Amino acid sequence: MRILVLNGPNLNLLGSREPEIYGLETLADIEALLRNEAADLEDIELAFVQSNHEGALVDAIQEHRDWDGLIINAGALTHTSIAIPDAISAVGIATVEVHLSNVFAREEFRHHSYISPVAWGMITGFGYRGYLVALDLLHDLLSEQAELEQE
Ligand code: DQA
Repeated sequence: MRILVLNGPNLNLLGSREPEIYGLETLADIEALLRNEAADLEDIELAFVQSNHEGALVDAIQEHRDWDGLIINAGALTHTSIAIPDAISAVGIATVEVHLSNVFAREEFRHHSYISPVAWGMITGFGYRGYLVALDLLHDLLSEQAELEQE
């Protein structure tokens, strides 16, 4: 099972970026925790991409078109980008949307996500733990789907 973990603008600054909102973990810490979690689950391959540029995120989704799942925190592009959800729809990849902070407890402009309608679901407000839960969920749901397809 191959899963792409995609992070958008400013998430490269995690650890020093408003830690009271986003936590003290760096993106490298989160990647290490995910690799650890993946090692406990069966045969998961992970790839990590972070970019501050919308087009690079679209490219990454297209380049992983044959992969099984996508965990995405598009940062502020969540609230503005149409190209990212279009890319997700175009390749038809199983997607879980993650936000470190609870976007619904923040400014109104963060309450709307263009990604949610093309995702299986959203995890918001649990810090780095959201990524780990997203990996567990995708692993469970994709395994279940594969079993159903075999029947
Ligand atoms: C975020 C929430 C967004 O509103 C914000 O622009 C981010 C991070 C989060 O993980 O909480 O950059 O996606």
